[in-house]
Amino acid sequence: MRLLVVEDDPAVRETLITFLECEGYEVEAVSSTHEALERLTRGEYPVVISDLYVDQKTGLDVLTAARAQNPACAVILMSGRGTMETVMAATRGGAFDYIAKPFELDTMLEAVKRAEAAAAAPEEAGEGDDDMPQTEMIGSSPLMVDVYKTIAKVADTEATVLIQGETGTGKELVARMIHNQSKRAAEPFVAVDCAAISPSLLESELFGALKGSYTGADRDRVGALEAAHGGTAFLDEIGDIDSNFQMRLLRFLQEREVRPVGAARAKKVDVRVVSATNRDLGKLVEEGKFRSDLFFRLNAIPIRLPPLRDRRGDVELLAREFVKRYNGKYGMRGELTKSGLRALQEYAWPGNVRQLQHMMERLTILAPQYRIDEAAVLEAVSSTTNRETPTTETLAETEMDQIRKVLAATGGNKSRAAKILGIERKTLYRKLERIDGG
Ligand SMILES: Nc1ncnc2c1ncn2[C@@H]1O[C@H](COP(=O)(O)OP(=O)(O)OP(=O)(O)O)[C@@H](O)[C@H]1O
Ligand SMILES: [Mg+2]
Repeated sequence: MRLLVVEDDPAVRETLITFLECEGYEVEAVSSTHEALERLTRGEYPVVISDLYVDQKTGLDVLTAARAQNPACAVILMSGRGTMETVMAATRGGAFDYIAKPFELDTMLEAVKRAEAAAAAPEEAGEGDDDMPQTEMIGSSPLMVDVYKTIAKVADTEATVLIQGETGTGKELVARMIHNQSKRAAEPFVAVDCAAISPSLLESELFGALKGSYTGADRDRVGALEAAHGGTAFLDEIGDIDSNFQMRLLRFLQEREVRPVGAARAKKVDVRVVSATNRDLGKLVEEGKFRSDLFFRLNAIPIRLPPLRDRRGDVELLAREFVKRYNGKYGMRGELTKSGLRALQEYAWPGNVRQLQHMMERLTILAPQYRIDEAAVLEAVSSTTNRETPTTETLAETEMDQIRKVLAATGGNKSRAAKILGIERKTLYRKLERIDGG
């Protein structure tokens, strides 16, 4: 694997080159950010190791360039002068790890190995709302305990699992837990959002395609089911596939073979299938919109995730955990008060845990004096439910104030900020233009 090392100190640079080459890496080393940025425009590096203070530009500039060029790139920053601020900036910029100098070579090697693995499986590439370290599922209501029991029982079997639940109830989280608790945990977990891919491309996405088999297929493409060989394929939004594809998927589940588009022969794959939907599949079957034979195959083990309003006791656990996490992530001191908690518990949560998570992120940053009380909660609820209401002068000012705070907390990341504020990115740009322009 190719590594780029950016380090102005010749002693450290040479040591890293010798050591990492002995470990079997192909090391390219440069001594200035200028050379680093130039290399990055020319080639892709899965892993970049950069000193933080190099010259007029810093490792953060290298980080930004590397991630812009290849979002899956894992960047390890090192510095002898790390502060809270630099570590925060590195983390916000998407650095993979931050290593304090002087370091043991083994520490560096361990980080490089983890970075290599992360760069090879860039599931979280791009923007998702799941950029928090994924710990366990939170919730101890009886309904959730039933879910945990089912997960514990089925994880280590080969059984096909169908997860049903409203949006934001944690279906993907459950799918990952099943995979992580199974014997397949060390093998790939490959998620496919069936609703986000046009029906005409879904076949090549899942089964693969040979070069030239359709317009735009300029190279062979490995399908998700093959990529998940040995591991788990997660078919998300399965209720949205058309009847033609339902047929193909059924055949796959019966035969466990994939034939890439344009290929003459099929190959066997060993994949565990977990699927999920927020639609009522049983009802779609009754209405004749979903094949019943496919439904029964997918639904060998059903898991139903209850909506948050049916387990209000979990709201407290979730809210406290999210405040804790976002306090850590953004360096805040948010505190949930009694009245704030009550307001959260009374709310209906149409967007379930995802909505609660976003709201706690927003409140952690924005609550006045860090107090997440009833007034702060009600304000957050009303601003997520009617996002585009025309604002009066003073409201506009409060709004700009909030935008500034959130941008500061997210290190200027606009798409992240828009998410936290519950507005579209376009809208945020428009609002920012208004202050910059006038
Ligand atoms: N019980 C839980 N504990 C902690 N975090 C949770 C829990 N349930 C959901 N989340 C978090 O809420 C967010 C949404 O969860 P997830 O993506 O799994 O939902 P989903 O059911 O797949 O939603 P959709 O139908 O919209 O795709 C994620 O950030 C996830 O980590
Ligand atoms: Mg989902």
